[in-house]
Amino acid sequence: MAAFTRPQLAPRSRLAALLGRSLVTPLVPADYLELINPLRFTRDLRGRIEQLIDETADARTLVIRPGRGWQAHRAGQFVSVGVDINGVRHTRCYSISSAPERADGCFSITVKAVDGGRVSTHLVRQARIGGLIHLSRADGEFVLPEGPAEPLLLISAGSGITPVMSMLRSLATRDATVDIVLLHYAPTTADTIFHDELQALAARWPTRLRINLVKTREAGDASLQGHFRSEHLHRACVDWQTRQTYACGPRALLADLESIWSAAGQAARLHSERFQAALAPANAGATGGEVRFSRSGRLAQADGSKPLLEVAESAGLAPAHGCRMGICHGCTVKLKSGCVRDLRSGQLHSDSGELVQICVCAAAGDVEIEL
Ligand SMILES: Cc1cc2nc3c(=O)[nH]c(=O)nc-3n(C[C@H](O)[C@H](O)[C@H](O)COP(=O)(O)OP(=O)(O)OC[C@H]3O[C@@H](n4cnc5c(N)ncnc54)[C@H](O)[C@@H]3O)c2cc1C
Ligand code: FES
Repeated sequence: MAAFTRPQLAPRSRLAALLGRSLVTPLVPADYLELINPLRFTRDLRGRIEQLIDETADARTLVIRPGRGWQAHRAGQFVSVGVDINGVRHTRCYSISSAPERADGCFSITVKAVDGGRVSTHLVRQARIGGLIHLSRADGEFVLPEGPAEPLLLISAGSGITPVMSMLRSLATRDATVDIVLLHYAPTTADTIFHDELQALAARWPTRLRINLVKTREAGDASLQGHFRSEHLHRACVDWQTRQTYACGPRALLADLESIWSAAGQAARLHSERFQAALAPANAGATGGEVRFSRSGRLAQADGSKPLLEVAESAGLAPAHGCRMGICHGCTVKLKSGCVRDLRSGQLHSDSGELVQICVCAAAGDVEIEL
């Protein structure tokens, strides 16, 4: 509840926050105007939650009205969302699930609560209508090409449907004449995010959209059931090698697709979106060490697999970050001494003064970083 209601909702609280800020930073006219309309006059890009839609038992759509400075996204892109939980700002990326053509000026994100997940649980269980969140501009390369549309194969699993849904909604809004096959995986019908809307789209667009909603934990069509297998491709989409394919889902699914597309010589036709970094196989010999955070003077013990960003957070620090998967460079800090391992490639970095991405690097022995 804290993040969405604390400074933003009540004018009196906003005034208190402003007075607090004036003790550490000179105030400018925008600070006073922010009291009147936090979306229009704030110095940061923010959004107000306008609507909450429960999609499944653990997934929720937040319809957000962005403030000044927002620029329309392209279908498939994501946005960084910042929330303050117990006084600490946490930032995570969420794909935009609405179409850019949405007429009311709002956009939506659809969040699935991850077990033990700080931000996803907060957004799914605690977000309230009227609450404000911090936003980045939309970003990302997982977008449909502009120009003449080629036949598409969309593959997703779980919450990986979100960028795909933005693409489908956009194509439907524009009444695009492209041939589309969707292959989507979820444990059960009740867990399938956007289940009814997908069925309705397919019914409305029978000659252009074929949807295959595969259940991994529910009986159904025996030839298209369970987790992804290469036979599913042949069953759902015989001409998969000739289509542009957009895929979003867990690491294992994306790894399978990448090896199938590479083996078929079609790697260039596969476009993947990851919610988590692709990690190198665990190094059995990897040991961690003592981590010294030079600015704060804090110390922590780390194993050889936990990202230094999480080590710092566990030690009570709140380092700047964005994607938490090595794409935005928002977490980069200086390595003062010692050695870190990049968990994606296994590569070691030990040059003093080198900038390292702490969301994807772990301690490889004792290490000191500038935090
Ligand atoms: C480009 C991009 C787009 C994304 N779009 C969406 C989206 O549309 N909908 C959505 O629900 N999420 C999306 N995510 C994932 C999202 O950013 C968070 O990682 C996720 O909500 C978990 O954050 P948390 O704070 O709840 O978990 P944390 O507190 O950061 O982590 C808690 C535990 O969950 C694990 N964990 C972290 N992320 C995931 C994950 N994605 N799946 C399973 N376990 C995880 C961690 O390893 C840790 O053990 C996207 C991520 C990226 C990079
Ligand atoms: S948080 Fe984006 S690269 Fe580390």
